[in-house]
Amino acid sequence: MGIDSEHSKQKYKKLEVLAQTNLKITDLMKTEPNRIDNFVMREGPLRADFSKQRVCERTLNALKEYAASCGLEEYRAKLFSGEKINNSEGRAVLHMALRGVGGSKGVQEDVKAMRHRMKVFSNKIRSDGKYKAIVHIGIGGSDLGPRLVADAFSANAEMKLDLRFAENIDGASINDALDGLSPESTLIIVVSKSFTTQETRMNAEAAYNWLETDLGTNAGENFIAVTANRQGAIDFMIPDEQIFDFWDWVGGRYSVWSSVGLSLQIAFGPSLFDEFLKGASKMDLHFRDQPLHENLPVLMAIVGVWNRNFLNYSSLAVIPYSRNIRKFSAFLQQLEMESNGKYINREGAPAGITCPIIWGDEGTNGQHAFFQWLHQGTPGAPVDFIAVLKDSSGRPEHHAALLANCFAQSEALMVGKSTDQVLKEMGGGDNISAIARQKTFPGNRPSTTITLDDLTPFSLGHLIALYEHKVFVQGVMWNVNSFDQWGVELGKILASKILIEMQTGTKGKHDISTSKLIELFINSTKES
Ligand code: F6P
Repeated sequence: MGIDSEHSKQKYKKLEVLAQTNLKITDLMKTEPNRIDNFVMREGPLRADFSKQRVCERTLNALKEYAASCGLEEYRAKLFSGEKINNSEGRAVLHMALRGVGGSKGVQEDVKAMRHRMKVFSNKIRSDGKYKAIVHIGIGGSDLGPRLVADAFSANAEMKLDLRFAENIDGASINDALDGLSPESTLIIVVSKSFTTQETRMNAEAAYNWLETDLGTNAGENFIAVTANRQGAIDFMIPDEQIFDFWDWVGGRYSVWSSVGLSLQIAFGPSLFDEFLKGASKMDLHFRDQPLHENLPVLMAIVGVWNRNFLNYSSLAVIPYSRNIRKFSAFLQQLEMESNGKYINREGAPAGITCPIIWGDEGTNGQHAFFQWLHQGTPGAPVDFIAVLKDSSGRPEHHAALLANCFAQSEALMVGKSTDQVLKEMGGGDNISAIARQKTFPGNRPSTTITLDDLTPFSLGHLIALYEHKVFVQGVMWNVNSFDQWGVELGKILASKILIEMQTGTKGKHDISTSKLIELFINSTKES
């Protein structure tokens, strides 16, 4: 729950009362004649339809009032002006500045200089012809964004170089990435904001050794680092001039817009990347300048808060009906859950109910896996359907079928199918009512449908920025710091300790289960 003012508490209580009325979405469709206007927003190439959500106009207004009572306007101003709203790390949050919006003059100049350097470098690599492949090494925010964008860009352009990714510490990840490549014509780009991440450092070392076996002392020429910790990269023996910086005010999960996107620029060309930034900046301007009640990220955020805090849904399924953005749900898992998956608020007190589980897979594949649960499981989950209107596969008949499935699923979730209807269809037979009930769809399950006119770098930038700002708004409403991630630290520390014990055979202090697992591993290495 948001800030602890009496005013805000009253607004929250009003919403709790409103949530007690069990509304039927299909009724709202009939009783609210302006629903298609009030619950649908278009911004640039993106249209978001919230009319299939289980929320009426009155509640929507109450949610807007609640969001305002949480100090959203003030927080939004602080965000764009570069105030240090990441209070646990004392950092500003300015990924929008990478798209030219917000931040001081100095910040904008740094960004411009970096973008220029990236462009010059990318154009040189593209025209040189020395490199045939790029291996992008990084994990979390240093991987998910670039991977998603690479797939999406390939809907618009041919990759000039073979772009591969290695993220996992599992040796199979770097093996797969390097498989069949020649060291001489491969550029390794190591991306790590902190330059301390175990997975990335281990994969970088493996890649360097692979280069070195072939290129000897020249191996370093094929090695680039992208980081906010220049000294860390220098200590890793990467020459100063081969390091691309970004800044501590860019969160890892918000970093694809920075030099973290270098491999994308090289593979697809700087102009596509520019379009991507422009698409995001259009959403930034909309979010910054529009009043709260006409603001798309705000609308999306309050609907999410309604589903989570008042209708008690613990997860949100995100289903892109577009193969080129099939990694969107994985990307959003980090964006949303690392940002707002917090049980303690900004002041150190319990935060109450916050971020739902984000999950999903591409449509139509998910229909043949977990959609059973979405339609008939208890309690199901709200869904964000994402569809692209224009075909990019060159197979229009497939595309029409893809979109028909997308539209049908949201309709089916909403309308359901009554037992009476099933009984009528069945006609008669043994045990008929038990079977009819199993074939019944409860319906009234909420969803949002987002359509992009076309999948372009611009529209993709627009879409990602929409979710980024939604996460910001929800963070304000839940009063959590959306820009730190302390929850990932404990496991990292324990893994380092356990690794030493596994390598040296020394016995650390653990519970009986963990001790046994370590022992099992040590014994397995003795057997082999
Ligand atoms: O462990 C979580 C995390 O810190 C993410 O926030 C981040 O995106 C990822 O690890 C990778 O971190 P880095 O870019 O510093 O290697």
